[in-house]
Amino acid sequence: MIMPIEGAENPAPRLVVVISGRGRNLQAIIQAIESGDLNAQIELVISNRSDAPGMQIARMAGLNCVCIEPKGFKRRDDFDRAMGARIAAARPDWVVLAGYMRILSSAFVQRFDGKLVNIHPSLLPRYKGLNTHERVLSNGDTRHGASVHFVTPDLDDGPLIRQASIAVADDDTPETLADRLMADVEQRLYPAALGDLIAGTVRFYDGVVWRDGQIQEHCPHDDYDSIATT
Ligand code: GRF
Repeated sequence: MIMPIEGAENPAPRLVVVISGRGRNLQAIIQAIESGDLNAQIELVISNRSDAPGMQIARMAGLNCVCIEPKGFKRRDDFDRAMGARIAAARPDWVVLAGYMRILSSAFVQRFDGKLVNIHPSLLPRYKGLNTHERVLSNGDTRHGASVHFVTPDLDDGPLIRQASIAVADDDTPETLADRLMADVEQRLYPAALGDLIAGTVRFYDGVVWRDGQIQEHCPHDDYDSIATT
């Protein structure tokens, strides 16, 4: 009789987290894994900036990290290919963009089709691109939120996995709103959405998102006011 090796039957799904900046979403994912809320392991943190503060967070957590800077490459496609090769070598189940501030080539997106996800600080399809907090305030929106979505070649346009929002306060500035959105929404939403993927309740195939075996017509939208830290 062949005895299974303990713990070897279901290794935790492998994440590669791709960053450019502060790494607060990375931090939240690390915490969710450490607390047992998220059944995953971070195989690699990869950045296009050696000075990204998130790299320090990764190192402090004892994670394998690597930086590939675009200046070493003549063409964007060559840089993307090098990033893609390093990510693929880590054999990820999920490639998690967490504040990666570069536009991805179609070839990169296709390479990780169906397993490439991103968080964007707005209630997509509203406010694709940059300066989302400023745009929410200048339009007088009463709520602001974040979206986790599958990545397709079009910027901030992939099918949604989950969204959550908070109320905009009368005295919010772009900075206060950005900080609250990060602490109260993004850092909760990303681990929750990754949990959906890892549990297999959400999948992306045939160009659509499936939740619990049904085509997802509307992605879940949670109101996070009640659990706000402020
Ligand atoms: C977040 O607001 C995320 O939604 C956006 O970039 C920012 C990254 O912040 N894509 P951090 O690096 O996770 O602190």
